[in-house]
Amino acid sequence: MKMSSRLICTKLLLLLFIIHASVQAFTIISSSSNTHQNITVAAILQKSAEVCSSFITQQGGNFVQPNVLTPGSVAEACQSRKSAASLTKAIVSIAGNNALVDGMHVFDPEYHFDDESFVQAQKLITDGVATVKASLLLKNYDTAREKLGKTLHTLQDFYSHSNWIELGNRSPNPNLIKPNTPIGNIADVNTETCSSCGDNCTNNILPTVLAQNTLTSGYFNMLSSNKPKGKCSHGGTADKTSFVEPKGGINKDSTSSPHGSLHFVAADVAIAATKDLLQDIRETSGDKEFLRLMGIFPSSSGLCFVIVTSVSTADLISEVKSLTAFIIDSRQGTTNEPSSYILVPFSDTGFGPLTQTTDFRDFNKTINALSASGGGNRSEMSLSGLWLALAAAPAGSEIFLFTNAEAKDVELKSTVLALIESMKFTVNVMLTNALSNTGLLNPVNQLYEDLALASGGQVMVLTKDLLTNVTTFVSNSTISALVNIFQVVRNPGREELFSFVVDSSVTNLQFYIRANSTNFTITSPSEQSQKSQEIYGSLGVILTIGNIYIVQLKNSSQAGRWFIYFNSSQSYTLKVIGQSAIDFQFNFVTVFQNPHPGYTVLNSRPPTDGNITLLLSILGSGVVKPTDVSLVEALDSTVHTSVLRDVGNGDYLVTVSTVPLGAFYVRVIGYTNSSLISNSTIFQRQYFGLLRTSNITVTALGNDTWAPGTLFTLPFTVATRSGWQNYTITARNNLQFSMTFPSSLTAGGDGVANGTVYLTSPTNVKPGSEVILTIEAALTGGDDYNYAVLRLAVSKGVAPSAGLVHSLWISGTALFINILLNIQI
Ligand SMILES: *[C@@H]1O[C@H](CO)[C@@H](O)[C@H](O)[C@H]1NC(C)=O
Ligand SMILES: *[C@@H]1O[C@H](CO)[C@@H](O)[C@H](O)[C@H]1NC(C)=O
Ligand SMILES: *[C@@H]1O[C@H](CO)[C@@H](O)[C@H](O)[C@H]1NC(C)=O
Ligand SMILES: *[C@@H]1O[C@H](CO)[C@@H](O)[C@H](O)[C@H]1NC(C)=O
Ligand SMILES: *[C@@H]1O[C@H](CO)[C@@H](O)[C@H](O)[C@H]1NC(C)=O
Ligand SMILES: *[C@@H]1O[C@H](CO)[C@@H](O)[C@H](O)[C@H]1NC(C)=O
Ligand SMILES: *[C@@H]1O[C@H](CO)[C@@H](O)[C@H](O)[C@H]1NC(C)=O
Ligand SMILES: *[C@@H]1O[C@H](CO)[C@@H](O)[C@H](O)[C@H]1NC(C)=O
Ligand SMILES: *[C@@H]1O[C@H](CO)[C@@H](O)[C@H](O)[C@H]1NC(C)=O
Ligand SMILES: *[C@@H]1O[C@H](CO)[C@@H](O)[C@H](O)[C@H]1NC(C)=O
Ligand SMILES: *[C@@H]1O[C@H](CO)[C@@H](O)[C@H](O)[C@H]1NC(C)=O
Ligand SMILES: *[C@@H]1O[C@H](CO)[C@@H](O)[C@H](O)[C@H]1NC(C)=O
Repeated sequence: MKMSSRLICTKLLLLLFIIHASVQAFTIISSSSNTHQNITVAAILQKSAEVCSSFITQQGGNFVQPNVLTPGSVAEACQSRKSAASLTKAIVSIAGNNALVDGMHVFDPEYHFDDESFVQAQKLITDGVATVKASLLLKNYDTAREKLGKTLHTLQDFYSHSNWIELGNRSPNPNLIKPNTPIGNIADVNTETCSSCGDNCTNNILPTVLAQNTLTSGYFNMLSSNKPKGKCSHGGTADKTSFVEPKGGINKDSTSSPHGSLHFVAADVAIAATKDLLQDIRETSGDKEFLRLMGIFPSSSGLCFVIVTSVSTADLISEVKSLTAFIIDSRQGTTNEPSSYILVPFSDTGFGPLTQTTDFRDFNKTINALSASGGGNRSEMSLSGLWLALAAAPAGSEIFLFTNAEAKDVELKSTVLALIESMKFTVNVMLTNALSNTGLLNPVNQLYEDLALASGGQVMVLTKDLLTNVTTFVSNSTISALVNIFQVVRNPGREELFSFVVDSSVTNLQFYIRANSTNFTITSPSEQSQKSQEIYGSLGVILTIGNIYIVQLKNSSQAGRWFIYFNSSQSYTLKVIGQSAIDFQFNFVTVFQNPHPGYTVLNSRPPTDGNITLLLSILGSGVVKPTDVSLVEALDSTVHTSVLRDVGNGDYLVTVSTVPLGAFYVRVIGYTNSSLISNSTIFQRQYFGLLRTSNITVTALGNDTWAPGTLFTLPFTVATRSGWQNYTITARNNLQFSMTFPSSLTAGGDGVANGTVYLTSPTNVKPGSEVILTIEAALTGGDDYNYAVLRLAVSKGVAPSAGLVHSLWISGTALFINILLNIQI
């Protein structure tokens, strides 16, 4: 991405430019220009270091300013080393949403300060800032990051696309982030602002414009006629207005732009402006909340319990109380202190309310107030409770569902799966109905098994005497910086030898083997072995909690190649985890070229036909280089290799051209030290969730603003390659706002069908509330389905324009977008 707007948004784009060097407007690619990405990263790191400095100093600590700012060095300086990963995640989210603006709004001038749309663009910024603040107030950090990223795109474009810099300014326009505040003397539509560029384009802004300090910006359009007389253009081959008088352009997107000589100046002012906007948020939120927004302090994951409260569950509830007490007491003030707490109770008759807090005292109080009540326990609203928790939990959280019976609300399965897949949750199910029946053999529990498998979680079958062991399991699964090294699922089991590499950064290596009964042998790099029957062996101790074997090693940081041999006819799953700063994150993306190169994050299943593209971010400090990124089929471990391209800043564009037919994992292998490649510097990580492709695409390009009490309209498109299809449509929102949508759609010969979701919010929605909207489409009568998930937020409006009745706005971030039209990969 570049500093320039539209096109340039990400490093990805840089890459594309190399391929399509003829698209000059975005030459950002060059190693000599700035991008939106590095402007955003630089501002976040500088401001975070500054906030940490003041925060730590206030607490009597000593802040040491790092020489070079990286997520690792800033986390370290903030005395929260383990925050490096969560800071990187926050940056990836903010920068990715910055890039998304080009994907979604390439022709909307107000998103880029094009076409002299100053008033509208300023309102986008001030509304955006208000939404970020409102979301932060309710601790909806994911929404706040998304909205922040989008808002920064527009803000940064001001400095590249307007003539602010040409007017001689070398600091940000302070009023741009203030609602309803004039930002300058804006040219009216009749004021001519440019002359045609000569050989040297730097002098094309009319002397009167400069003399009168008039603010203008370039016009950008695919139609050359869409420019009023005498106006400046943006410039570049994609901008057809730059070919008519006055020819040329004024953007400073890159060093080779029409005003490329001002590129670095504009980029520096854009960094300063980005920091000012962050400062504005900090002043409202306070230092601690600002740092949380950036993923700094506390670094560990949240604690999220979804728990049954029917009559017969008193034992379970009391166990969860002592588990909570244990975690709270043992983690206060440590790096393993949970970053947030979520609780959702459910019973056979209902579910909720949701408790969401960052204060352990509140959580302790709510947990201690739980009691068993309600009716019988034949079937429970467990998926409704889970759905409520997933919609509130930070993306990537580990969830613990405690239940004693089958789900009554099985129809929610596809929605729950959509959230698990698109937001990368892990769901662990603690089942106590094994007490009275056959546990996992009971087909009613297959649903829980499916959710755990899809999310890389465990299903723990608990008998009464095992209840106290839950503490060990939950506690061990919620320490900070856990990474997944290896995972397999076999059903049925067979004789098979697996191997994987553990690098020297890994500590607390643990094996979780889930099987009713099994036979395995583990061999360490130093060739010591232990069999499943040996509780105490040369490697360590093998604990069993019901159906789960936990291998705790004496030497739990042994680098090198490990082997595990299974000789078992029964089904099993194996998961190998440890603690490490080295990890990866990824999103499926759709890359497009027209009208500008860009990408959208695909928050749905990727398409079965065509290539699968991932944008991969490597977390960790020092040399950490992936060499082999593959999709591994869950069924038989068939490996689909990829072509890997380094796009800078630890990010890689990964293209896989043979698509797995069934469920698959993402596996990354690489090295951590280029000078010394050995088995201890090779690292291996695997994404814990099972992923799938779909023949159906669901596209929902959403709006950003939505006033309470009014109708929110979201058009969507469902498509497959084959025509004359009937689709079954389901849409759900977690706040139960009233909603209408077509329950089925029929496609013509092209396989495409369009529908609209209408959603009405009550007028009394709390500012900052977030709505998770899921739209699902299935082929009638088939198994295949796909979804689009959108995150929407309610925000207090600051600058309602004339004609708007309400002062409250709801901003929607169309996070999860499928295929855009006009794509050419
Ligand atoms: C942005 O990236 C470009 C190209 O890698 C580099 O020249 C420039 O210094 C970077 N700017 C910042 C602020 O990091
Ligand atoms: C273009 O003109 C500007 C201002 O007169 C000057 O600073 C710059 O060096 C010129 N660029 C070229 C490539 O001649
Ligand atoms: C949690 O609540 C229990 C019961 O009210 C109380 O005894 C305990 O001290 C609380 N723990 C913390 C850490 O607040
Ligand atoms: C568990 O193992 C026992 C004995 O080997 C067997 O009878 C039972 O069917 C197994 N249960 C499952 C769920 O595989
Ligand atoms: C399970 O809990 C029991 C009773 O507290 C304890 O004796 C046993 O060691 C525990 N097992 C594991 C694997 O933690
Ligand atoms: C897992 O929990 C047990 C009991 O709390 C503890 O002894 C053990 O060290 C933990 N293991 C890890 C890797 O945290
Ligand atoms: C484990 O091995 C024993 C002895 O070879 C065998 O009897 C048993 O069936 C095996 N268990 C499984 C689950 O395959
Ligand atoms: C898929 O990827 C391969 C290898 O990167 C590339 O050659 C091919 O053109 C791509 N196919 C499509 C349809 O994009
Ligand atoms: C890594 O381990 C494998 C298996 O133990 C061995 O064959 C290989 O030579 C080792 N490679 C290096 C670079 O040490
Ligand atoms: C997609 O369609 C192909 C051809 O009909 C089929 O083989 C495949 O199983 C479908 N994929 C999914 C995920 O249903
Ligand atoms: C999005 O919002 C704008 C401004 O409120 C409105 O004009 C436009 O029609 C909306 N678009 C959709 C698709 O609802
Ligand atoms: C779609 O639905 C229509 C109307 O119910 C029906 O006539 C048609 O056969 C269906 N088509 C398919 C492919 O199922």
